[in-house]
Amino acid sequence: MARVNDSYLKLKAGYLFPEIGRRVKAFTDSNPDAKVIRLGIGDVTRPLVPAVLDAFHKAIDDLGTSEDFHGYGPEQGYKWLIDTIIEKSYKPLGVDLKTSEIFISDGSKCDTANILDIFDLSNRVAISDPVYPVYNDTNVMVGRTGEADEKGHYEGIVYMPCTEENNFSPALPKEKVDIIYLCFPNNPTGAVASKEVLKKWVDYALETDAVIFFDAAYEAFITEPGIPHSIYEIEGSKKCAIEFRSFSKTAGFTGVRCAFTVVPEALTARSESGRAVNLNPLWNRRQSTKFNGLSYPVQRAAQAVYSDEGWKQVQDVIDYYMENARIIREGLQSIGIICHGGVNSPYIWLKTPEGVSSWDFFDKLLIEANVVGTPGSGFGPAGEGYFRLSAFGDRDQIEEAVDRIKKNLG
Ligand code: MLT
Repeated sequence: MARVNDSYLKLKAGYLFPEIGRRVKAFTDSNPDAKVIRLGIGDVTRPLVPAVLDAFHKAIDDLGTSEDFHGYGPEQGYKWLIDTIIEKSYKPLGVDLKTSEIFISDGSKCDTANILDIFDLSNRVAISDPVYPVYNDTNVMVGRTGEADEKGHYEGIVYMPCTEENNFSPALPKEKVDIIYLCFPNNPTGAVASKEVLKKWVDYALETDAVIFFDAAYEAFITEPGIPHSIYEIEGSKKCAIEFRSFSKTAGFTGVRCAFTVVPEALTARSESGRAVNLNPLWNRRQSTKFNGLSYPVQRAAQAVYSDEGWKQVQDVIDYYMENARIIREGLQSIGIICHGGVNSPYIWLKTPEGVSSWDFFDKLLIEANVVGTPGSGFGPAGEGYFRLSAFGDRDQIEEAVDRIKKNLG
């Protein structure tokens, strides 16, 4: 009989969002008339913007002609998309990247998981608590950890608590780590990192020979000036950081799928013998072997995000979601709920009422207000006593949800 990967048996619960979906389904099955508003998973609701849609349609038509038909594309992504990203997303930040340093993919969720392929299991990883569950669970899946303790912390992972006291910004680990996951603007807390904070991390990684996995999937939601959008705005970071970016939330691509990962050529880690090895060719090798590239129409659609028209249209949608975030934040604050995030991030991280656990608050909101959010403890034990609301809903629904919450909790 074949043997399973026993590491999967260490995973504590189902993946957070399907688990929420299961509970919501159980509720709606027994309350079919309830008009449930879903502000749980951060899934976008606005349609693709016209410039993107036009490029998408045209690229599909291209595939129906012998001149412009496209079969397998480059596994790394088409040069015209990568160069547009460099020109429009990085040059304005003063960051120079080469075409060979960007890899187009079908999502940051997959990339943050797949990147583990090129790192040895002996690496010690540090992740925040609370955290986007993918970072934690994928390390369990590959076999880097022991069992979970009663809190849900896995043996072998260094957890960095993010609390109100440290402004949801993790402290440098006290013990030696080799890989550090950072996510700013943060999912789930909505916290951001200033240049000084990121410099502290980059200096630390350079001093201790660690690699930072920098998840910048929400950078487009930064509204305040002076906050870095990329870790590469920090000097020295190309020698210690891999950056993940996504079109999912920025341009409504959660269903379309397009993201990219930056692996600078200057970035190295060591082999068993202690030799410095460049990570860029390793990631290239991994992608060329296990991934066949993203479809041509999707990459054309992503490129259209950067056209003058597309950029403006996408920005309008981002502004729409950030206005939703303001409505949620201010609505909840008006009834005395403590809220974090929602200024440079589409997530509001609210404190549950004294003595009410995250899952109890989830049930209360679902049953009494028919509003779905995400329990903070689902992102890690330090998220207990918090609750996340997503601002990606439709405006009417957001207003309705805030009214219902005010009526039930106010
Ligand atoms: C979330 O709600 O945290 C995100 O939608 C999850 C994701 O991007 O995979």
